[in-house]
Amino acid sequence: MCGIVAYKGNKDCHPILLDGLKRLEYRGYDSAGIACLFDSKISITKRAGKVKELQEAINTKKISKDFSTIGISHTRWATHGEPNHKNAHPHIDQSKKITLVHNGIIENYNSIKKFLLSKKIQFKSDTDTEVLVQLIGYFYNQGKLSFEESVRAALQRVDGAYGIVVLNIDFPEMMIAARKGSPLVLGLKQGEFFIASDISPIIKHTKKIIYLNEGEMIVINKEKYEIKSVNKNLVLPKKIETIDIKIDDLEKGNFDYFMHKEIHEQSDTILNTFRGRALKDDILLSGLSDYWKDIKNADRIYITACGTSWHAGLIGKKLIEKFARVPVHVEYASEFRYNTSLINKKTIVIGISQSGETADTLAAINKAKDVGALTIGICNVAGSSISRITDCGVFTRCGHEIGVASTKAFTGQISVLYLFALKLAYSKRTISKLSLVNHIKDEYDLVKRIKSVLMMEDTIKKIAVKYKEASGFLYLGRGLNFPIALEGALKLKEISYIHAEGYPAAEMKHGPIALIDKNMPTVFIVPKDRTYHKILSNIEEIKSRKGKVIVITNHKSKTLESLSDDLIVLPKTNSYLFLILATIVLQLFAFFIAVAKGCDVDQPRNLAKSVTVE
Ligand code: M6R
Repeated sequence: MCGIVAYKGNKDCHPILLDGLKRLEYRGYDSAGIACLFDSKISITKRAGKVKELQEAINTKKISKDFSTIGISHTRWATHGEPNHKNAHPHIDQSKKITLVHNGIIENYNSIKKFLLSKKIQFKSDTDTEVLVQLIGYFYNQGKLSFEESVRAALQRVDGAYGIVVLNIDFPEMMIAARKGSPLVLGLKQGEFFIASDISPIIKHTKKIIYLNEGEMIVINKEKYEIKSVNKNLVLPKKIETIDIKIDDLEKGNFDYFMHKEIHEQSDTILNTFRGRALKDDILLSGLSDYWKDIKNADRIYITACGTSWHAGLIGKKLIEKFARVPVHVEYASEFRYNTSLINKKTIVIGISQSGETADTLAAINKAKDVGALTIGICNVAGSSISRITDCGVFTRCGHEIGVASTKAFTGQISVLYLFALKLAYSKRTISKLSLVNHIKDEYDLVKRIKSVLMMEDTIKKIAVKYKEASGFLYLGRGLNFPIALEGALKLKEISYIHAEGYPAAEMKHGPIALIDKNMPTVFIVPKDRTYHKILSNIEEIKSRKGKVIVITNHKSKTLESLSDDLIVLPKTNSYLFLILATIVLQLFAFFIAVAKGCDVDQPRNLAKSVTVE
C-alpha cells in the first residue's frame, strides 16, 4: 500500500520522481505528492487523485518547478484520514524543517499524538504519518539529538509498520530511510541514489540494488551511504545485487492495459515456470532441495495466502491431496495469524504471494516460523520480504505484474503447486514414473493450448459485452474448478464493480438459486470429468428459472449446446490443466466487461496491488 520514490543526485529530481510514482501507482492512487529541498526551504506539491493531477500541478505556471537534486515522493492508498489534499504525503513537522513520506500504519499514533499535543504541537492532517514526522521534529528541535538520532529515537517509539524516507532542511545533503514491515530498495549509481518501495522506478536508472531488511535504515550523506540498524548505531555489511529486468517488462507494449498484456503473457510465463523444472522424467525444484527430506516426511501442510493467491492455495490443496495424499489445510493469512493453528515442527507451511509483501501473509509465515515449522514461499517477486524470510521456496517467474487484478501470477502459482504436488507424490511413490512422465508431457502441451485460447478473445469479448449490464453473476464449478469459480468472480468484482459470487455448482441449490432471474447470469465451468453430467443437471435448474447460462467446457455435446446461452469450447487437456485454460477465459471475460463499462481496469477504485497493512 502506498508507493515511495526518493532521489538524491546531480539531476533535477522532479522528472525522476514523477516517472517513478507513475510506475508505483499500482500501489495506491488516492493522492500523490513531492517534497524537495530548494533554496534553504522545503518545497511541497501535492494533489488529491492520481499522479497525473500532481504532474499537471507541477507543470502549471502557478506552482514553480524548483530545480532540486534531492526529493521524496509518495502515491497514497488511504488508511487513516480521507484521501484529500491535507492528508496527502509528504508531511512536514511544525518547525517546517523536516519532511517525510511513509508507507505502513503507525498503530500507537493516538498515544504519541496526545503526547505531542501536550507539547503544543499542532497537527494539520488526520493521518497517522504526521505523528511520526512531528515526533522526529520534536526530538530534533530539542537540540540534543542529531538528525539521524532523532529519526532513530522516533522509530523506536512507534508500533506498527513503516517504510519511510525523511529530509531535513538543515542537512540538504542528507536523506534517511528506514523500514519495518513495508519494503524499501536502494538503487546505486555513480553520484546518485534512488530509494523506492520496489525496483520498478529504479531499474531505468541502475541495476545495482540493495534490498533493505526489517529494522534497517539507510543514511545517505553527500556521496556516501551506510546501512545501519534502526535500534543501534551500527553499520551493517550489505551485498549489492545486480537485477536482471528489462524496462520493456514494465511497459504496456502494444496493449492499452497492463492487465490485457499480462493475460496475454501467460503462454510464456507458464513456460518459464516449467522450464528447467519439469524435466523429461523428473521434477527439479532446486529452491527446495536442501529441505526436501523434511518436506517429504511432513505429516501435514498448511497453505496460507490472501485474495487470488488464496484461491491458488485451494487448488494446491486439491492437487497435493490427490497426488501425494498428504492432508492440506488452507487458511486466509489474516485468519491464520490469529487462529489456534495446530502447527508444529513437523508441519510445512506454504505462503503464497505474488508481491511477497502482503502484511497478513508475512505475519502468518512469521507465526509459523515461531513454532519451528518449515516455511516455503511461492512468490513472484525475487528479493521480496516473503521470499527472504521463508526457509526455502519456488519463484513463479512471471515477470513484473502491474495490473492490480492478478492474472499471470495466479496461473504461475497453480503451475508451481502442480509441480510441487507431482514431485512430492513421486518422492512418496503415490504416483508412478509413467504417470509423472505423462503429466510433464501435458504441461508442455498446455502452452500451445493457452495460445489457442488467447486467439479466441474476440469471441469472448462479444459474449462479455452482451452481459455488461447484468446486475450480478454467479460463477459455478466443482472440485478443482470451484476455486476457479471463486477467482472468476473476484476478477469481475474487482475491475467491473459488478457483484459476483463463486460457489461449488451443487451448492447453488442451497441458497444462491434464490438470486436467479433474467438479469443474473451464471457462468458454469464444465470439464469433461466425472462431474460433467451432474453439472448438466445444475444448469437445467438455472434454465428452468429463466437464468442466462454461459458455459466454459472442453467437451461440447448437444445437451450442453441446447442448455447454454453462450458456449465457450476449450481445447482438450487433462482436467488438472483445464482449469488454467478456464481461468484465462474468465480473466478475459472480466476484462472485456470492465472495458465495455468504461472502468479503470488497471487501477480499480479503492484497491491497491500490494496490501502491506494489516
Ligand atoms: O501479492 P499477494 O499475492 O500476496 O496479494 C494478495 C491479494 O492482495 C491479491 O491477490 C488481490 O486479491 C488481488 N487484487 C487479486 O486480483
